[in-house]
Amino acid sequence: MADGTSETKSSNQMWGGRFASGPDAIMEEINASIGFDKKLYAQDIRGSKAHAEMLAHQGIISADDKDKIVHGLDTILSEIESGAFEFSRKLEDIHMNVEARLATLIGPAAGRLHTARSRNDQVALDFRLWVKEELQKTEKALTGLIAAFLDRAEEHAETVMPGFTHLQTAQPVTFGHHCMAYVEMFGRDRQRVRHAIEHLDESPIGAAALAGTGYPIDRHMTAKTLGFREPTRNSIDTVSDRDFALEFLSIAAIAATHLSRLAEEIVIWSTPQFGFIRLSDAFSTGSSIMPQKKNPDAAELVRAKTGRINGSLIALLTVMKGLPLAYSKDMQEDKEQVFDAAESLELAIAAMTGMVRDMAIRTDRMKAAAGSGYSTATDLADWLVREAGLPFRDAHHVTGRVVALAESKGCDLAELPLAELQTIHAAINDDVYTVLTVEASVASRKSYGGTAPSEVRKQIAWWRQRN
Ligand code: ARG
Repeated sequence: MADGTSETKSSNQMWGGRFASGPDAIMEEINASIGFDKKLYAQDIRGSKAHAEMLAHQGIISADDKDKIVHGLDTILSEIESGAFEFSRKLEDIHMNVEARLATLIGPAAGRLHTARSRNDQVALDFRLWVKEELQKTEKALTGLIAAFLDRAEEHAETVMPGFTHLQTAQPVTFGHHCMAYVEMFGRDRQRVRHAIEHLDESPIGAAALAGTGYPIDRHMTAKTLGFREPTRNSIDTVSDRDFALEFLSIAAIAATHLSRLAEEIVIWSTPQFGFIRLSDAFSTGSSIMPQKKNPDAAELVRAKTGRINGSLIALLTVMKGLPLAYSKDMQEDKEQVFDAAESLELAIAAMTGMVRDMAIRTDRMKAAAGSGYSTATDLADWLVREAGLPFRDAHHVTGRVVALAESKGCDLAELPLAELQTIHAAINDDVYTVLTVEASVASRKSYGGTAPSEVRKQIAWWRQRN
């Protein structure tokens, strides 16, 4: 094997038979996106129709060709929707699948559709249209979830439960107040969705491959036809960036994180040990071996979907992070992440809305738990400040001793006899018992945004006007 030729030959003998056609097959497999981007068929056809109308309006193609193109595209749309369309991997992606079929249907006029555009601005358009519609769906879904919480909050404006920090009993709160905390979170998620719709509301079509085009196109016309506020301003940026997809994914990740925290609470609350809620049969499952069990599977899966959605965000950030301008094929990897995250988020919001609407609130259990763990100790300290004039730090110390006394006797604060309280601080009188109940505790917290039923009702009214 001293001579190079024989070396090449023997190498070829090793893998040549397989690779004579092999590389093409592998190339086709890694290159094709039709398996997933066929999801963009409606957006692709809408975009092509708008583009053809504009080309004819500007005299770039004839009205006759435009009519053929539009009619052919409509036919393709119904073929796809009826399931009659045959997608081909050889044709790579949705754009070329549609265009090839158009050529079969209408002949040479089909070849004029791709004038003054490229697949680079075409895919940017299709994907933006898809993400915009998905954001609009997400906005609606969040509105439904917020409505479910507002109803539960109203119903339980007076229901007391323990409020937690460190998952240790902290102070009594109302269940209505707790529900309204989620309304605030999902309300902010919805604001983020609305902002994202504003950010992406620019039409990419006409950016062409990256530099724009010499044809006298009217990008304002296509923007208007497609329902965008205006055309994008820089053709290089238009085909390069996918920040609208990243924004969708980051919003989805934050919303999923909120959903996951709620899911975690539902899992905890529905345990026999907590027993704060009872999940409906519709949103739980049984065990195949333990007949007594009712498992919060839906909540657990919502909690887990967050992992997928966060993963999609990191995946696309990583795809995009080192790409030089303008388009690179790497960007084809944007779609599956967004499709998967969108599906997971839609499902998670829907499941959560159902669970929130259906779960039974065990007010007796919540109330009993609210009163245990010396949850009104802060109220006692506040009483000492207000009625006995103690500085808060001293009141805190006195209260600590009262708690220790109750603990040693194994009773609640309200069960301690007055005489014993007075041995700890002489200024304590009978009036103190009025602040030691959980109802008195929550009713007293009337500060703006506080847990008092009157305050919670104000916040519900505020949200009702905005939902
Ligand atoms: N399927 C491609 C994608 O999703 C379409 C754009 C292809 N453009 C190109 N220059 N090869 O990104």
